[in-house]
Amino acid sequence: MDPELYSRNNSVQTNENCHIISKYLNMDTWKEGESVLEIGMGNGKFSMETFLPKLGNKIHRYVGSDISEKMVEYAERKFHQKQNPNIEFMKLDPQLNEISSSLIEQFDHVVSFNCFHFFSDARTALKNIFSMLKPGGEIIASLLEKNTEDDIFHNFSKHPRWGGYGHEKYVSTFFLSDNPQEEWKKTFIDAGFKDIKIFCEDRIVTFPDERKFDDFFLALDPALSDIPMHDKKAYIRDFLQEVKRGTAISIEQNMKTGQRSFVMQYRIMVFIASKTLT
Ligand SMILES: C[S@@+](CC[C@H](N)C(=O)[O-])C[C@H]1O[C@@H](n2cnc3c(N)ncnc32)[C@H](O)[C@@H]1O
Repeated sequence: MDPELYSRNNSVQTNENCHIISKYLNMDTWKEGESVLEIGMGNGKFSMETFLPKLGNKIHRYVGSDISEKMVEYAERKFHQKQNPNIEFMKLDPQLNEISSSLIEQFDHVVSFNCFHFFSDARTALKNIFSMLKPGGEIIASLLEKNTEDDIFHNFSKHPRWGGYGHEKYVSTFFLSDNPQEEWKKTFIDAGFKDIKIFCEDRIVTFPDERKFDDFFLALDPALSDIPMHDKKAYIRDFLQEVKRGTAISIEQNMKTGQRSFVMQYRIMVFIASKTLT
C-alpha cells in the first residue's frame, strides 16, 4: 500500500476506528506503565494523531507494526522525531513463524484495526499474537467479515497478466467460508484466547464521487506499488472494473444530473479476548 495515498483516503477507516474505540475499548481499566502492540497500524497517522493521544501518559511502551516496509518507513519519518523513546515502529507480519524472542510475552494489550481480514494464515497469526501478550493481557481487533477485495485478490493471483504480484498473501483465510465469524471465534479459541466477546455492526458508505471511490480502493491494494510503471494504467483499469462488479458494491445514478454514486456495504466484527493468567 502507498502510505501517501492511504493518508488521503482513509477517512472511512478513521471514523470506524474512532467509533470502535469509543464503543468497545474501555481504556479506563488500562493501568499506568502498560505496553501496547498495534498490528497493521498502516502509516501510523491514526495511531499517532488519534489513538495514542486518547491514552494520555498511561502507556510505558507502544510498538506500532505493519507488514509493509513503506508504511513503517513513513511512520518513522513522519512521527518519530516528535515522539518519546517509548514509541517504536517495526515491520512485523505475525503470520511468520520466526517471531523475535524479544517480543514474546512483552505486551499488556494488542490492538488492531482493519487488518486481520488481510491475513491469509489467521491461525499462525493468532498463535503468534497470543505469544506476544503477557499472561493477563488483552486483545481488541476490528476486521471485516468479508473483504470486498478478496475476490479480486483471489482472481488476480491466478490472472495471466496480474498474477505474480503477491495478491494471494492478502486473501482472507476464511474467504470461502459461509460463516467467517464462527471460524474466527474458533481460531481465537485454538490460539489459547479466553473470554472471547464478539460484536458485529453493518455499515453502508456512499461515495458521491467516483474518483474518491476509486482512490479509496486503490489505497487498499497492497500490490499496486509493485506493478511496473508501463503496466500501471492497465492494472488500475482492470482492478477498478473488478471492484465495481463486487457484490458489496452498488452504483446509483442520479436521473437529473447523470452523476453516479457508489454504495459500499460491509460488516465490521470486533473481537475482544484475553490471555488468562496461568
Ligand atoms: C486497511 S489498512 C489499516 C491501517 C490502520 N490500522 C487503519 O485502520 O487505518 C491495513 C493494514 O494492514 C497491513 N497488513 C496487511 N497484512 C498484514 C499482516 N499480515 N501483518 C501486518 N500488517 C498487515 C497493511 O499493510 C495495511 O497497512
